[in-house]
Amino acid sequence: MTLDQLHLLFFKNYDEANLSFSPGINCFIGDNGSGKTNLLDAIHYLALTKSAFTTLDAQSIKQGADFFVVKGKFSSPLLDRSETIQVSLRTGQKKTLTHDKQPYERLADHIGRYPAVLISPYDTDIIRQGSEERRRYFDSLQSQLDPEFLNLLIQYNGLLRQRNATLKQGTSSHGFDALYLQALDDQLAPLGEGLSILRTSFLTEFLPVFQRHYQQLAEGREQVSLEYKSQLPGQNFRHLLLANERRDLALQRSTVGPHRDDFVFLMDKLPVKSYASQGQQKSFAIALKLAQFELLAARPATAPAGSASKPLLLLDDIFDRLDEKRIARLLQLVADQTFGQVFLTDTSLERTDQALIGVATAIQRFRVQAGTVVLI
Ligand SMILES: Nc1ncnc2c1ncn2[C@@H]1O[C@H](COP(=O)(O)OP(=O)(O)O)[C@@H](O)[C@H]1O
Ligand SMILES: [Mg+2]
Repeated sequence: MTLDQLHLLFFKNYDEANLSFSPGINCFIGDNGSGKTNLLDAIHYLALTKSAFTTLDAQSIKQGADFFVVKGKFSSPLLDRSETIQVSLRTGQKKTLTHDKQPYERLADHIGRYPAVLISPYDTDIIRQGSEERRRYFDSLQSQLDPEFLNLLIQYNGLLRQRNATLKQGTSSHGFDALYLQALDDQLAPLGEGLSILRTSFLTEFLPVFQRHYQQLAEGREQVSLEYKSQLPGQNFRHLLLANERRDLALQRSTVGPHRDDFVFLMDKLPVKSYASQGQQKSFAIALKLAQFELLAARPATAPAGSASKPLLLLDDIFDRLDEKRIARLLQLVADQTFGQVFLTDTSLERTDQALIGVATAIQRFRVQAGTVVLI
């Protein structure tokens, strides 16, 4: 699957842009602040219906405008027709997503159909920040791989919101509705246990792929590992909810469940966050992304119809922020045709050309300048 055309209207610092891409490597070259990463983010919208950098969609509307449109035309060698995906948002309204002009009933139905993997200088945030960041990362990855997981997650989060609202009412003048809380817990328990089981089995599949990529990137002797940390395995979640009900009522939120899970990153059995060097942390983060790419590429895609398709690879500022060894490893994978279509950004045309010498894939270069993009 390739993204052949991209059309933007009032997206971030762009008024309007119309771009045609190569099925090989597409390079966006421009100064800092010119809008290179914004182009990658527009592609991220097409793949995942949301920004890679902000949770507030309204921030993607160009300042002074009251809507944005991101439209992409995709094609696959196995399908001799193209498909158009469009994401748009008008201030104060709900985001809409269409596939060949047909609105999706649920944004979730799109997730996983047009996979993309972003490798960015901010990836080490997954290591350094709190458990929420890691849950969000793995949830997003698992949602792309497994629609059943995404469905469970959406249902669980919906019920959890209701449960927390009920806990808040517990101390209000209306009094506390114990029966309603029990009914919610009856529904929540199997969903939570299901999520925990899927997270456990996912990590079993993901770990060896991740470890192999780490070893190839780092060429070090250190052993890396990922552990799933949860209150749930081996526990009856319904009983756990009951056992914590008094505390939950006092705190007015749900203190146990998979929404509190974490993924622990280890290097030689010690926490990566505090023990690993900067370079090791970068390798760790890139290995997570490469493992993500491999699993997404291996999965039978749900669309375009039946064709296994490689995710789009978005490489943001890699020449600038990574050291030569890691860049060389990534470029080796590019040269090996491990990846499909690639979009990369850099400030220097010379450096990019130099780095891509020896890569046989078709290369297209664009100059980005204050919200305008031209082919070089
Ligand atoms: N909603 C928006 N409206 C207008 N400009 C925006 C918006 N969001 C981001 N920008 C601008 O986009 C520019 C950054 O673009 P970016 O793609 O990150 O640059 P780079 O080329 O360095 O990757 C900044 O100048 C920022 O102010
Ligand atoms: Mg950038």
